[in-house]
Amino acid sequence: MPKDLTQAADNPTRWLHDNYSALMGIQNPEELHNYVVEAFVDFNKRGALGNENFRKFKMDIDRALSGGMARLQSYLSNYMLAGAGMRAEWANSTPGMMATMITEDLDCNCVALTEEQERLAALVESYGFTVTLCEENVLDFVEEEELISEAGSTQDALQEALALLRAQQWNYWSSHWQAQGDNAYGNHLLFQRLYEGMEDRIDALAEKIVGYFGSDAVDDSLIIEKTQKWIKKWEGGESVSRAILSEHDMQSTFKTAYDKLKEDDALSLGLDDYLMAAANDHETNLYLLQQVDKG
Ligand SMILES: [Fe+2]
Repeated sequence: MPKDLTQAADNPTRWLHDNYSALMGIQNPEELHNYVVEAFVDFNKRGALGNENFRKFKMDIDRALSGGMARLQSYLSNYMLAGAGMRAEWANSTPGMMATMITEDLDCNCVALTEEQERLAALVESYGFTVTLCEENVLDFVEEEELISEAGSTQDALQEALALLRAQQWNYWSSHWQAQGDNAYGNHLLFQRLYEGMEDRIDALAEKIVGYFGSDAVDDSLIIEKTQKWIKKWEGGESVSRAILSEHDMQSTFKTAYDKLKEDDALSLGLDDYLMAAANDHETNLYLLQQVDKG
């Protein structure tokens, strides 16, 4: 039997269920959107809605808002229906404001609805939606895939930054050992300062990635593969020019991550602050390295 969240305490589905009539009574789409988002932010803060689910919700509800009131109401209805154990998606954009409920069984062998599910369907219908049961809807899957790829690229951008930081630290540490020639002692100390200064930054970013995407997102083999790609890119040349190259890559990777997060509306204040501070510190590194290079 599918889980029915309308019966459980303290979760967004239950909240939508309890407030459904009030929500459907709000006349202004922006107001409805903001009211619901505020409530979901609260659930997220209290840990009743995971970060990834919150992010997906926020993307979906913003998209629904841009489709107007009908789309927004349809989205909220479907969110509630889905949480009540039914696979629910909105149907395509016919003006008839449809909510499509699909049973858990993807082969569309209808399973009998519980009394509560019947009641919810009737409730949603009483607000002018057509609730369709057991209908296959190819569009649903397209929409889901789009979201996965969007989420993927935000994740990629942050993993790339993490891999690059680790590559650079690895490289600086090696340069510290390999320092030789006229400026050996100075370079030995400079590279020590550079690699030692990176530990907290690497740690903070990895923890943020885990917070957003779960612990699998920092798996060794995944990150090492990306790290190695950077190390290969800087191969050859002497240590200071290699370092300058890596600092330029660092700036553009931070910039890409920042733009990507912003575009996906996933840039939290914490991440914004992190990326700004990290980019600033690495600009200082670049300055130091360029001074050494001139000298
Ligand atoms: Fe050392």
